[in-house]
Amino acid sequence: MDKPAKTNFDIHPLLKERWSPRSFTGQMVDKETLQRIFEAARWTPSSSNDQPWRFIVGTKGDKTWDMIMETLVEFNQKWAKLAPVLALSIGKKISDKNGRPSRTFIYDVGQSVAHITFQAMHEGLFVHQMGGFSAQKAAEIFNIPEDYQAITAFAIGHKGSPDLLEENFAEMEKSERERHPAGDFVFSKSFGNTSDLF
Ligand SMILES: Cc1cc2nc3c(=O)[nH]c(=O)nc-3n(C[C@H](O)[C@H](O)[C@H](O)COP(=O)(O)O)c2cc1C
Repeated sequence: MDKPAKTNFDIHPLLKERWSPRSFTGQMVDKETLQRIFEAARWTPSSSNDQPWRFIVGTKGDKTWDMIMETLVEFNQKWAKLAPVLALSIGKKISDKNGRPSRTFIYDVGQSVAHITFQAMHEGLFVHQMGGFSAQKAAEIFNIPEDYQAITAFAIGHKGSPDLLEENFAEMEKSERERHPAGDFVFSKSFGNTSDLF
């Protein structure tokens, strides 16, 4: 059931063991754990320290969870219904520092979700991010102001057994994880020229 990164390099165990499950147990995530997870987001670096991340967080059984579920595409609804926590990441498009459009707000928000993912792993939880949701519907139902943009949805929970999923998802849950070798994306001298590091 586990599928850690296959790597010859000695990377941090929480990075090695991270992956994006679609099956979650029915176990809820307690308030203090969620507080620590979003506190981790708070300490994300950002351009001009703009801190453009915002989150809408729902736990299963509450109205917010139902509303986030409504924004997901059907494919994601089918598995995310198992998740005890659903959240939306939202970014502020305009820099607080200079009032101009930020070039990096999506990058900054993505990095804050990376912090969330790492802290969640530290808590024994897994995160599954989703681009498959309607940002427009999210803006409507949550009254997101014009100068903010919903960027992703994500699920947090305790990793469950593939047996809890429909067959095609269960297969995906067991399939091997794949990555390009680092030599394909770490360059020196010119773009595309593999660095001597690899
Ligand atoms: C921005 C983003 C959007 C994603 N969108 C979806 C999605 O809509 N549905 C889904 O099932 N997985 C989604 N994923 C999960 C990716 O498919 C997954 O991270 C990738 O296949 C690598 O697998 P791993 O996270 O298990 O290493 C998304 C991941 C990211 C970071």
